Amino acid sequence: TNALNTVVMGSNLEIIKSTVSTQEEARQRAELGAPEGSVIIAEEQTSGKGRLGRKWFSPYGKGIWMSLILRPQQSLEYTSQLTLLTGVAVCRAIRKTTGLQAGIKWPNDILLDHRKICGILLESTIEDKVVRYCIAGIGISVNVDLEEYPEELRDIATSLKIVSGSSVDRTVLIAAVLDEFETMYQLYNQEGFLPIASLWEALSVTINQEVVCHTPEGLKEGIAVGLDPSGALLVDMGMGDIVPVISGDVKLK
Ligand code: BTN
Repeated sequence: TNALNTVVMGSNLEIIKSTVSTQEEARQRAELGAPEGSVIIAEEQTSGKGRLGRKWFSPYGKGIWMSLILRPQQSLEYTSQLTLLTGVAVCRAIRKTTGLQAGIKWPNDILLDHRKICGILLESTIEDKVVRYCIAGIGISVNVDLEEYPEELRDIATSLKIVSGSSVDRTVLIAAVLDEFETMYQLYNQEGFLPIASLWEALSVTINQEVVCHTPEGLKEGIAVGLDPSGALLVDMGMGDIVPVISGDVKLK
């Protein structure tokens, strides 16, 4: 079934053909007062945004390119936790609808067969140290064919179709993502980050792995051992020296 069972997430949902980026579309709507749970989905993005200034490949009709407006009441810490929460929701939705064993690479990539099928971009607008709204951008490569990918992405990116061998219904997956997101968001608002952190750790391909982290403070190398209460990745550098990694990229060794 592709019925939407959510109360808040997607109660206000717009599908457009083409845009520069659904993040910008969502930002405009948020500025005009769009309520929490508003969703904007595009068939195509002409300049999809990735993390760290990268581009996100968003061909017409082949993926789920969507942005979700959130209006949290909490402080700044919220943002990195929401990134992880979004990863948990998407990963669970993919597992549920396709049966494929997707995993999460810290902080926000969803992988299948060691290749990326989904990226998450969380952007917050802050005023006087208060979050006005967050936009959770989710890009899932659903039915992209291998030949369609630009050369430089072929070894690192994949799609649900490439992995499963057949096309996946985007509508069913969108409904599942919104459903899982709503469940995780409710859990988070009621019980805090701890239950989300344990779900994340269970779905993670990063925990217990040797990692090299590129952080603003330089390179950190060690074993990823878990998340701290803020959502930072804890890396054991040896000799009992465990450091939190807040941002940056993680390479699995
Ligand atoms: C990343 O892994 O670098 C994050 C990729 C995020 C892509 C999604 S697609 C929908 C939304 N709109 C964008 O321009 N980016 C996000």
